[in-house]
Amino acid sequence: MNSVTASAPGKVILAGEHFVVKGEPAVALAVNLRVYVTVKEGRENITIKSNYLKNKVTLSLYNLGNTKSKIGKVVATILKSLTKDGDIPPLDIVINSEIPPRYGMGSSAALSVALIKALSEYLGLKLNREEVNEIAYKAEEVVHGTPSGIDNTVSTYGGIIVFRRGEGFIRLNADTSSVGLVAAYSGTFKDTKELVIRAKTLSDKYPRVFDPLYHAAGRLALEVAKALKEGNFHAVGELMNVNQGLLSALGVSSLQLERLVYRFREVGAFGAKLTGAGGGGCVIALVPKEALNRVMEAVRPYTNWVKELKVSYEGVRLEVSRG
Ligand code: MEV
Repeated sequence: MNSVTASAPGKVILAGEHFVVKGEPAVALAVNLRVYVTVKEGRENITIKSNYLKNKVTLSLYNLGNTKSKIGKVVATILKSLTKDGDIPPLDIVINSEIPPRYGMGSSAALSVALIKALSEYLGLKLNREEVNEIAYKAEEVVHGTPSGIDNTVSTYGGIIVFRRGEGFIRLNADTSSVGLVAAYSGTFKDTKELVIRAKTLSDKYPRVFDPLYHAAGRLALEVAKALKEGNFHAVGELMNVNQGLLSALGVSSLQLERLVYRFREVGAFGAKLTGAGGGGCVIALVPKEALNRVMEAVRPYTNWVKELKVSYEGVRLEVSRG
């Protein structure tokens, strides 16, 4: 096989990020921004190019793990999972991402999922989604330390899911056609690993305070799932606002995020909250369809990136395979 392209979607978390790391349920949906990965025959090494990387990363076939680059480490982990020692051919890997990194929209998980799909097809392995998801989790561990698995799962399977660490996920059938979902960038970002440690450190320090908050966040995610199914977006928005308060209590919000959250609410969103690891990254807002343009215009002065998102019902997929 000479060239294979695969893609996978990014995600937003509607309820339950961070709390999901300690086993509470969370609700996530795949979005219509994708990462495309092409794998081609290389010359002597593994080379990685990306529209979000200044320089090409090169990995030696004989010492794959010997790299400081995060993306290089992810590629090495994935290649080792897919091949037997010494069985790795020279490859050129080209990444084209529509998901800006560190926006809280699952760019790293989507990259891993798409890369595993492209590589496995290139190597003639027929992996099912479950196997792709399992390997993507290992790659996420390289980037995040102790991921819950929600990002790689929603990117692999697509759609709207209720996820629980250790238990897996269920699909949520909800008609979202009458509501708008908007994301806006806060202008700053933080490392996911650092934020997960921050939330864990604070909650471990005061278990009597935080145990009930974790429990509440889990109940909240289930209420969000129920309201989504019923098409009660007013309730979903209200619960997103409560979720933002809990995330703020956990220490993962920021002044820039709060400004955006309050602006969205002020101009007519049903609800708004940070999404993903927080500390920066994006705010998501649920907006009545008829108010969508007005709300987006009203938040524009507060952000340099605002976008309407749609649910992507397709998870990982093979794009092109030329042999
Ligand atoms: C990151 O998108 C979501 C977090 O809950 C981390 C995780 O679940 O692995 C912050």
